Amino acid sequence: MAETGPEKAGPSTLALHADDELNVVTDVAPPLHLSTTFRYSNNPEDLIPWADTTEHHVDKRSHIYSRFTSPNSTRFETILSALLNGHALSYSSGLSALHAALVLFNPRHISVGEGYHGCHGVIALMSRLTGLEKLDINCPAEQLEAGDIVLLETPINPQGMAFNIEDYAKKAHSRGAYLIVDSTFAPPGLQDPFKWGADLVMHSGSKYFGGHSDVLCGVLATQRKEWYDKLLGDRLFLGSVMGSMESWLGVRSLRTLEVRVQRQSQNAERLVAWLDNAVDAQSPAADSDEAATQAAVHKIYHASLQKDDFSWLKKQMPNGFGPVFSIVMKEEDFARKLPSKLAFFHHATSLGGVETLIEWRTMTDAKIDRRLLRISVGLENWEDLKNDLVAAFRALLKEKK
Ligand SMILES: Cc1ncc(COP(=O)(O)O)c(C=O)c1O
Repeated sequence: MAETGPEKAGPSTLALHADDELNVVTDVAPPLHLSTTFRYSNNPEDLIPWADTTEHHVDKRSHIYSRFTSPNSTRFETILSALLNGHALSYSSGLSALHAALVLFNPRHISVGEGYHGCHGVIALMSRLTGLEKLDINCPAEQLEAGDIVLLETPINPQGMAFNIEDYAKKAHSRGAYLIVDSTFAPPGLQDPFKWGADLVMHSGSKYFGGHSDVLCGVLATQRKEWYDKLLGDRLFLGSVMGSMESWLGVRSLRTLEVRVQRQSQNAERLVAWLDNAVDAQSPAADSDEAATQAAVHKIYHASLQKDDFSWLKKQMPNGFGPVFSIVMKEEDFARKLPSKLAFFHHATSLGGVETLIEWRTMTDAKIDRRLLRISVGLENWEDLKNDLVAAFRALLKEKK
């Protein structure tokens, strides 16, 4: 649905050129516009009072006030619309995007899995206001009513395990409900939820769209123009727009989205495969890297290990399974100490940036297994990350002796 840019260009080209029509100066790098307000036309004949227009049509080159639209966020959304195959809108955070989606649908029920705990915070807030009720993500279809929402996070936070989008779309649609896919862990280049039946696609753009751990943003995309118009109108009053500086950084980041994400995903897959083989190795030599890994690690989670699901998974995620995975350590104390023994992993929350992060997940998630560490793989050489991890496992074991 690339409404802008060359219709047939591939995603890497669109990331660089979908916004060409918005170039009004000769700068190759797009300018940063900080103004919140924009001059009306000097020609009185051009002035149309708000009440006299039925549809507040967005002219991408002319803006009124930045709580409605602004040059940098419009440019960011133009590129995202081409990459996401839908009409994209940006928000101040991933959670404000989810909030806007729930305001749009105002459902009676939401069928949702565990996933990112913050999304449950937004659902709780809506429940307080509207009586919205939560259903399990695998509830019988009969429990869904027309207008309800199925919110599927895939791959899921923090494990990085994937779910079959097509199955959940069929279930939702069989009851007149809608499927929202939180595709934060698999941005364009890895997964296109619309292809498998999603009605609305949501992203925390703070992750891969920003990609450098310096932008807070959320994104919604839909292929229905009427929903886009409504979301745009609602956002004017929710006020949850993305800042101009963030949008400008976001455009800078989208230029390299595909290469970043696919390389990060490749790195993760290699690291996961090595760790998983080590954990499963039969009688590894004493003092080998595999023996140290087995002594420290209980289990690894990642979509690349879902071999029984490959018949649908390789179709839905043909270019890789995402850069985030989790490891469950043998002991809680190992999980607490591992980050402090690593050289190339920052111990921090969030994910999706070019630098590798590890988080003892219990630091921000009250319900998670305290032995679990979430890893967001960056652009380092994967062997360096592997060697760093093995050295840290050895240090933990030595300390325990
Ligand atoms: C899957 C998922 N959805 C939504 C969010 C919320 O995004 P934000 O932090 O940009 O509000 C996150 C944040 O970690 C997430 O991981």
